[in-house]
Amino acid sequence: MKKKPILDPRLLCAAGFVRQGARVCDVGCDHAYLPIFLCKSGRAEKALACDINEGPCRRAEENIKLNGCAGLITVLRTDGLCGAENFDPTDVVICGMGGELIAKIIFASPITRKKGVRLILQPMTKAPALRDALMARGFSIVDEALVRDGRIYQVIAAEFTGRRSSLSDVELLLGPVILEKRPELFREFVEKHIAEQKKILLAKKLNGIPCEREEKLISTLEALKEEV
Ligand SMILES: C[S@@+](CC[C@H](N)C(=O)[O-])C[C@H]1O[C@@H](n2cnc3c(N)ncnc32)[C@H](O)[C@@H]1O
Repeated sequence: MKKKPILDPRLLCAAGFVRQGARVCDVGCDHAYLPIFLCKSGRAEKALACDINEGPCRRAEENIKLNGCAGLITVLRTDGLCGAENFDPTDVVICGMGGELIAKIIFASPITRKKGVRLILQPMTKAPALRDALMARGFSIVDEALVRDGRIYQVIAAEFTGRRSSLSDVELLLGPVILEKRPELFREFVEKHIAEQKKILLAKKLNGIPCEREEKLISTLEALKEEV
């Protein structure tokens, strides 16, 4: 338990995408450091801290009380966004989970398709699959960032538009906004993906599996690396 939660760079980066005056719902809040930070700093008007498990909900309650935020943050033990409808969030944060679980939580709730609701997502794995699913279901990626916190993490901000679309392999892998903005960590991020794709390529070659897709991706990534 901490009185003043100092956010790690990963959560601080996600917090930066939350809009001023937001009613923020943190799904999978665990310790609730993110909603505490957002409410104490005045960025969020109020927050709903959700978690499916009892331990995290208890931890969240304790930390919220210790930080004097009991009037601003409500804890809800629930699966994803179930029961968050009355809170009517403007911003929904889902950090620290796998990309596929994040997608499942998003598509299970009508809240995420409400006009103007911003989703702030930080997948630990399967970011390309998350992007692909978002685009196929009519969500649009409005912003993205890279942040170093030991390893490099990606943060994605998305909103529902109803327009279904798709991304190229390289856009799925690096993120369309990251690809356009080319932030500070971009070169290192590309190098990491080249190494990963080379491993996949080798494994496929050894097993006689066609690997044109990886070959094309690696050459695109190599070219991008040379540009920065
Ligand atoms: C690794 S922690 C991440 C905590 C925090 N969001 C962060 O990024 O540091 C994942 C949390 O998500 C919760 N969780 C997992 N599945 C969930 C679901 N379907 N709905 C709500 N919470 C869930 C877990 O109980 C756990 O507290």
